[in-house]
Amino acid sequence: MTRAQRIASKVFRFGIVPRAKQRAGRAYMDVRARRGGPAPEIRSASGDHNAVDDYWTGHLVNAAPFLTARQSERYLEWRFREYPLFREFSGLYGAHDGEAILDYGCGPGNDVTGFAIHTGARRIVGADVSASALALARHRLSLHGAGPDRVDLVRLTDDRTALPFADGEFDFVSSQGVLHHASDPRAILRELHRVLRPGGEGSIMVYNRDSVWFHLHVAWEVLIRDGRWPGQTADEAFHRTTDGEDCPIANCYRGEEFVALLEEAGFEARYAGGYLSQWELRAMQESWGFAITDERLAPEHREFLRGLRYDYGHRPMHGDLHAGIGGTYRIRRPG
Ligand SMILES: C[S@@+](CC[C@H](N)C(=O)[O-])C[C@H]1O[C@@H](n2cnc3c(N)ncnc32)[C@H](O)[C@@H]1O
Repeated sequence: MTRAQRIASKVFRFGIVPRAKQRAGRAYMDVRARRGGPAPEIRSASGDHNAVDDYWTGHLVNAAPFLTARQSERYLEWRFREYPLFREFSGLYGAHDGEAILDYGCGPGNDVTGFAIHTGARRIVGADVSASALALARHRLSLHGAGPDRVDLVRLTDDRTALPFADGEFDFVSSQGVLHHASDPRAILRELHRVLRPGGEGSIMVYNRDSVWFHLHVAWEVLIRDGRWPGQTADEAFHRTTDGEDCPIANCYRGEEFVALLEEAGFEARYAGGYLSQWELRAMQESWGFAITDERLAPEHREFLRGLRYDYGHRPMHGDLHAGIGGTYRIRRPG
């Protein structure tokens, strides 16, 4: 093991400060790159970078580079366990034999990697506004031997929504946890519709307002129990509770609201429901009983929480749909 690898592995294991993690990670990735393993190219679309791009370049979902392909694969398995029903609702990864897939907002490459190792896709494109996330994705793909013959990485800008792809270039589009962070999600949806071929399908996740996260975690745990941001409503505080307090944009949608946006962009859309986070399952056990009897909690939230039912797997449901934060939509471009 080289010195850079030793540092990177220690930092990764003991979870020291993010800046040190990133420095050690970069040193480790440089060593790998010098060895000349196959890695996809990162090309940049034109446009100026704004506060959204800068935030996501400095704030990574999982900052430490993986040291081995097995570790990277295990993380994907952990991610499905951490978010019950994510796999089922999103349909990831599917077969996709011979298809071209776009992962819009690929971050550090979770699903680009998943598509590369679990599907027969001919071409996989990961696009994101974050330079650091794309560098991690590139490194991770090289661990799996997924090179430029099959995978492309493209750096976008939040300000310029025109995608650098041809009409109908993709058979499948996936976008997990991205569009609620974008300045102009309507314009991005129009572009995703343009680059998907007629008859092509996709899977999109945006934060679900009809969720335990919104009505219990934000409205009661954060604002009332912890007394944070006095005077703010759950709608006002929500964006500070998901991806870091300073995250410039983090919206949440009701199912019918986002289906309307998808239809406006030209898609046929079906709302599958909100997959759960372990955080929400814990909040149901620890906080639900306090919240429903607390008169400081606005009636909208108390009624929502009182109306929840459990499914056979003890997962909370609102009406016929699961009440997790991961609002998932299956889409199709009519063809
Ligand atoms: C929570 S992460 C999700 C990453 C990845 N999809 C996953 O599931 O692991 C959100 C990602 O959206 C990206 N993002 C934010 N705004 C964007 C925009 N306007 N266009 C494309 N990507 C964007 C961020 O850089 C970040 O990588």
